[in-house]
Amino acid sequence: MDQSETPLLSALEEYRRLDRYGFSPPGHRQGRGVDERVAEVLGRDSFRADVLASGGLDDRLTRNGYLSRSEELMAEAVGAEQAFFSTCGSSLSVKAAMMAVAGNDPGGLLLGRDSHKSIVAGLIFSGVTPQWDEEMHFSHPPSPQQVREMWDKYPDAAGALIVSPSPYGTCADIAGIADVCHERGKPLIVDEAWGAHLPFHDDLPTWAMDAGADVCVVSVHKMGAGFEQGSVYHVQGDLVDASHLSNCADLLMTTSPNVLIYSAIDGWRRQMVEHGTELLGRALDLARTTRERIERIDGISVLDDRLLGDEASHDLDRLQVLMDLDELGVSGYQCADWLRENCRLDVGMTDHRRILATMSMSDDEDTADRLVSALEALSRAAESFDPPPRIDLPSPDELQLESVMSPRDAFFGRTEMVSADRAVGRIAAEQLTPYPPGIPAVVPGERLDRAVVDYLHSGVDAGMNVPDATDSSLDEFRVVVEG
Ligand SMILES: Cc1ncc(COP(=O)(O)O)c(C=O)c1O
Repeated sequence: MDQSETPLLSALEEYRRLDRYGFSPPGHRQGRGVDERVAEVLGRDSFRADVLASGGLDDRLTRNGYLSRSEELMAEAVGAEQAFFSTCGSSLSVKAAMMAVAGNDPGGLLLGRDSHKSIVAGLIFSGVTPQWDEEMHFSHPPSPQQVREMWDKYPDAAGALIVSPSPYGTCADIAGIADVCHERGKPLIVDEAWGAHLPFHDDLPTWAMDAGADVCVVSVHKMGAGFEQGSVYHVQGDLVDASHLSNCADLLMTTSPNVLIYSAIDGWRRQMVEHGTELLGRALDLARTTRERIERIDGISVLDDRLLGDEASHDLDRLQVLMDLDELGVSGYQCADWLRENCRLDVGMTDHRRILATMSMSDDEDTADRLVSALEALSRAAESFDPPPRIDLPSPDELQLESVMSPRDAFFGRTEMVSADRAVGRIAAEQLTPYPPGIPAVVPGERLDRAVVDYLHSGVDAGMNVPDATDSSLDEFRVVVEG
């Protein structure tokens, strides 16, 4: 195939050039009807490009086949058998993959307890039975041996789903895990939301399709250069029926996908094929020097080799710069707030002692300098911060809640709101997810204990966000009415 082609982008360009017009949605008619104040902020050009239905760019409305051609180009570019685009993020793609593999299988799906909240949402929505792994890997994906033990325990599961890279950039031994699954003739799904760039540079961790996964889901907007919500799911082999997977996605998908999102994925694929090695190579070099510079700042240390090893992760995406602030004696929440307020700089994941700066191919010396200078200023300013509010951190064992009901039954069952004290010992009916990174501390159907209630409550007081809680102050919890 000719990888310089961009079927969607070219169709869009032609639409403009020919001055076409449509008496069909979108109603803003290429921006003509948009309020000036909106156009001032969003740019009228973004509306001019938003022409999917009227432009004949939607494969459902015409036989032009722009989308499917663009998906074929993507599959070829990354070496998957098939690729499908979605405009609702990996949140949709991962649910579609779960449904395709285990939607009607009582054996359920093997899952890491560090799954993203979109996976838990998939469990609630589809009724797929989770077969959780027993340990809670906050930053380390499971090892092949742990997945083997899971299979020994739940041999009838329909497949396994792992997250790799984690939102911190730590990666699993996907090839080893895929072998373990394939020995049993079962598919492996990889939630690779943070790994869209992996196929395009040899010095990045191995990407899931090369490692033998059957389905993998990526968010182009996270580590690529797509608009927010742009996601691709890839499939290969014969353990997962690609057309069934696509039908599952269709159940969840909008009927009005945004052509801006599709076209940006189309153009990003061409850019990566033509310049990915050079752009990502430069980003990796910049990340290496930036890590070294940050390492020299008093009180801030960059996590690197400590994240790797037998008991830890198999590989690391070094574009994810995870910093430990323990020596500064302040919390990650305080630092993120300070950086936002004083340096107009936002960082990614933040917790009681860490912050994460995600670098991308779009960063350059200037943005790296801005990050390093801000961190230097933070290191100087931290002395004057108030002591951080105490967070009652449970041990990993205490965070391991007993799962006593299916997430779906707990979520849709009869529920009530009770005070934090009265919630201890009750079955949670809501997800409770410190965000970012979006890994639920509590999944519906789990029995709340004192340690987790105190942890979340004290976390919120210290600056943690738990956006999916019914009561965001966590003075009250939504629990199942039993009996
Ligand atoms: C591991 C993981 N999976 C899935 C998602 C959902 O991706 P999206 O934001 O593209 O819907 C995220 C988002 O942060 C994530 O971190």
